[in-house]
Order: sequence, then C-alpha cells, then structure tokens
Amino acid sequence: EKGGYDYFMLKEIAEQPKAVADTLLGRIDGSGSLTLDEVRIPPRVLREIDKIVVVACGTAFHAGMIAKYAIEHWTRIPCEVELASEFRYRDPILDAQTLVIAISQSGETMDTLMALRHAREQGSKVLAICNTNGSTIPRESDAVLYTHAGPEVAVASTKAFLTQLVACYLVALYLGQVRGTKWGDEIRAVIRDLSSISGAVERVLGTMEPVRELARTLASKNTVLFLGRHVGYPVALEGALKLKELAYMHAEGFAAGELKHGPIALIEEDLPVVVVVPSPRGRSVLHDKIVSNIQEIRARGARTIVIAEEGDEAVVPYADHLVRIPATPTLLQPLVATVPLQVFACELATARGNEVDQPRNLAKSVTVE
Ligand code: M6R
Repeated sequence: EKGGYDYFMLKEIAEQPKAVADTLLGRIDGSGSLTLDEVRIPPRVLREIDKIVVVACGTAFHAGMIAKYAIEHWTRIPCEVELASEFRYRDPILDAQTLVIAISQSGETMDTLMALRHAREQGSKVLAICNTNGSTIPRESDAVLYTHAGPEVAVASTKAFLTQLVACYLVALYLGQVRGTKWGDEIRAVIRDLSSISGAVERVLGTMEPVRELARTLASKNTVLFLGRHVGYPVALEGALKLKELAYMHAEGFAAGELKHGPIALIEEDLPVVVVVPSPRGRSVLHDKIVSNIQEIRARGARTIVIAEEGDEAVVPYADHLVRIPATPTLLQPLVATVPLQVFACELATARGNEVDQPRNLAKSVTVE
C-alpha cells in the first residue's frame, strides 16, 4: 500500500505533481477563466465581502499565511490569518461582510471547527478548503472547495499542503475574477502558470538526491534555522515545522528582515541555515535584501543552504549548498520551494532513526481543543 516506498510520507511527497494537477482539474475552463461552481456563495455576496479571515492550524495555517499574500494582491480585500486556536477567544470582529476561510486537511480539527462555528454565529460566511469528503468542517461550512490530494496517511502533511496552496490561489483568483479587481492580464497569466505548475513540482522532485545527502550529514546537529521573506516566510515556517515534527530537532523559521532585530544573535560557527530566496525577477528588492542577509550570516560562520531559482547567479558565492528550483511567478513559488524542505526533514528523520510516518506524541487529526 506504500507503493514501493519505505514510508507513506515518501509516497505522498512523490504524489504531489498529481495532487496539484487533480486539484486544478475541471476548475479552469477553455477560455482560461475559473469555474468554481462548487463555491455556492453567490457572486453577489462575494462582491460585498469587505474582509477575509483565514483560520487554520499547523501546516494548514502556513497555507493560510500564503493565501493572505495572494488574496490581498489579487483582490485588494483586507485579509487576516489567525491560528484557529486563538481566534474565538479574543472576540474577533466579524459580520455578514466577512468571509472566513477555514483550511483543514482532515476536516476534523477541533480548533478549526470551533473557530468556524464562532464565525457563523456572528453571521459570517464560511468557505472550507478541505481534503476529506463529507468531514465535519465542510459539512458545517456555507461552501467547500475540496483539495484533491487523495488520502494523506503520514502524520506530517505534504501533498495536502501543496493542494491547499492551489485551492487558496484559486479562491484568490476567483474573487479577483468575480469582483473585477485587478482582473486582467496578470490574473489570466497566473491561471496559465498554475496549469503548468505540476510539471515544475515534478522537476524539483527529480533533483532531490543532493538534498538527501546533505540531510544525512546534518543528522547530529541540534538546531536548524530557516529564513524567508514575503511568501518565502511561511515556507520557512513550514520547513521548520516539518523538521520539529519529524527529526525532533530545534528548528525555527524567521522572516529574514527580522534577523537584525534579534535572531542574528543565534548565528554561530557551522549552524545550518536554510534560506528561501525570492525570485530575482519579481520583487527584486527583496531578492537583493535576502542576498545581503545570506552574506551577513555567512560572515558569522553559518552554513548556508540556499534555495534559489534556476539562473539566480547572485546567490552562488554565498551558498555552501545550493538547491535549485524552477522559476515561477513570485506568489506561486511556495509550490516548488516547499518540496526540498519536506525531503530534507524526511531524510533527517530517517538518519536519526525516527519513525517517519508516526512521529512521537502526534496524531494525524487533532480532534480535541
Ligand atoms: O487536518 P488539518 O489540516 O486541520 O490539521 C492541521 C494540523 O494539525 C496539521 O497540519 C499538522 O500541523 C501536521 N501534522 C503538519 O505536518
């Protein structure tokens, strides 16, 4: 049932190109527009939405953080992202013009369920992004956009995450389309890029052997840090979460711009630091700033593991290890940048003799608050 792989996690990592393609299937029509008929919230209601709040936990929360960048960019609707477990306890401001998006692979996470119940009690509409047909969260929501990752068995979420990202992009683009905000060449172009993104994920998977080798050499380390900016920041957080869960190592993700406000004090000789580098083409200012960050930490002895777009030559002199990912539009980069981090964590767990599919103390779905 593991399809020839040693672990479900490896199988699920390998299934990502298909999971991504399946989640797009039937949702883009021949003219390159989105047809999300499943989102039963009428366009009239969607046009009146003046705030979006995303609630989720763990890996799904990281998908939500990335959704915020996409939603605000393509729709200009203010968007907040909140850990589901924090949400209702602070009496959030919600009304009928608020759209709450609840992201959950299992559809049974109690924290997320309680958050959406609270939102509906306040009159907000709830759209679920979920991987499990007929589970509680979609049943209790006003609408659902299913991710089509197929069953995810390993406790550490991989393919569900990539499909949650796809679903978030679809929602953001759809809202842009329905509301006419910024609708035009850029949205159309991104829909086209999304259609070919599964091939890019496949290409990354084909180049992972050096990442595995590197992970094995780090098995005795205590700490790994992850840095990113813009959508690379949630990717860094996701890389750190995977490493905590699987390798039981101290791992932290930071927004690279925050380094100088504290975390740079952690840098010491031979500390592995993974840096997710934004495309030099898109927000090139951010690219240049992160290249300076890499220089700074390397000057302080860090061992830099740099994840950068193919053709990005500026990072080469400062990368102790360089992992190449295909060029994508800025907002879509997490779909390719996350994959090496999953492989890295999985291999480190194996090298440390940990149980990959069933990490200690964790359950696949957390049905208690
Ligand atoms: O089923 P959900 O997506 O609601 O689960 C949320 C988190 O519990 C989940 O993502 C968790 O963080 C994973 N173990 C991460 O790999």
